[in-house]
Amino acid sequence: MESSKKVTVIGLGDMGTVLASTLLKHGYKVTIWNRTAAKAAPLIAEGAIFIPDVATAIAASPVMITCVTNYDKTRSILGSPAVAPVLAGKVQIELSSGTPKNARDSAIWARERNMDYIDGAILATPSQIGRPDTPIFVSGSKPAYEQHEHILKALAGGLQYMGEEAGAAATWDMGFLSTLFGMTTGFFHGAQIFQSEGIPIAALGAMIAHTAPVLGEMIKRQADVIQAGDYSNPESSLNICADGVQYFVQQAKDAGINAEIPSFILGLFKRAQAAGYGNEQLASVFKILK
Ligand SMILES: NC(=O)c1ccc[n+]([C@@H]2O[C@H](COP(=O)([O-])OP(=O)(O)OC[C@H]3O[C@@H](n4cnc5c(N)ncnc54)[C@H](OP(=O)(O)O)[C@@H]3O)[C@@H](O)[C@H]2O)c1
Repeated sequence: MESSKKVTVIGLGDMGTVLASTLLKHGYKVTIWNRTAAKAAPLIAEGAIFIPDVATAIAASPVMITCVTNYDKTRSILGSPAVAPVLAGKVQIELSSGTPKNARDSAIWARERNMDYIDGAILATPSQIGRPDTPIFVSGSKPAYEQHEHILKALAGGLQYMGEEAGAAATWDMGFLSTLFGMTTGFFHGAQIFQSEGIPIAALGAMIAHTAPVLGEMIKRQADVIQAGDYSNPESSLNICADGVQYFVQQAKDAGINAEIPSFILGLFKRAQAAGYGNEQLASVFKILK
């Protein structure tokens, strides 16, 4: 088998297992390693080669995908003295989650060992891996990316290369997740409102899914305002939005439900108002979060 079709996967948790399985389905020769050997059994049945010695597992392929709990765990595996002799010349694709600094530190660490380094952030759950629209953001060594893009494409048709700066993929991931978690937390309060009013929560979820492009448009508008640094001429000023959030606090009181989320949002909006931004765009809240 040509060496470009050989991949070693280090870490067989929920995600690593699916990564290895997906590569097997795409005809790759997949060598696997995991601290807990028992987790390799289903993949061995699918055709993966389990090697209990991690250095030998890494040596088996030109490319290794690392996908463990976090970067420190990866370092504890690759940093062992037994592994040191097999690292030079390898390409590491780090798919564990972490911060931009984690990624930059790992890129330096890899370079010091004569490895090429690609950092990736998986914006999907294990069951979503391998679809034409699965998003994975990657950044780091461009030559290594171009040479091994086919591996990543097999895992995620929605693959996006974010540039040579190793921390870029993690930055995009965190920007996306910050938006997602913020909106989802807001949704949880919306669900409380629905429950308190006796309307099925599933109906709210379906409506949000239906209006997702409009939500995206609103976020993009805030981004454009912040990028341009021009918070003037609001269609809907911070003052108007803050008045709106007051109703959420009032509704929570009326319905006897928790008011933490609207109170938190109102607190931010009030701080921005106190800073003199009341007649500006809502995006002016960004300025108090520096
Ligand atoms: N699951 C998701 O939906 C998802 C989505 C996007 C990104 N991710 C990221 O993918 C990475 C893996 O996630 P996962 O869901 O596969 O996690 P998981 O099921 O908890 O698996 C964790 C993996 O890390 C290994 N590990 C932990 N500590 C270790 C150590 N000290 N030495 C060696 N191996 C160690 C575990 O080995 P053992 O089997 O021996 O415990 C296991 O292979 C994480 O960074 C996660 O944030 C996951």
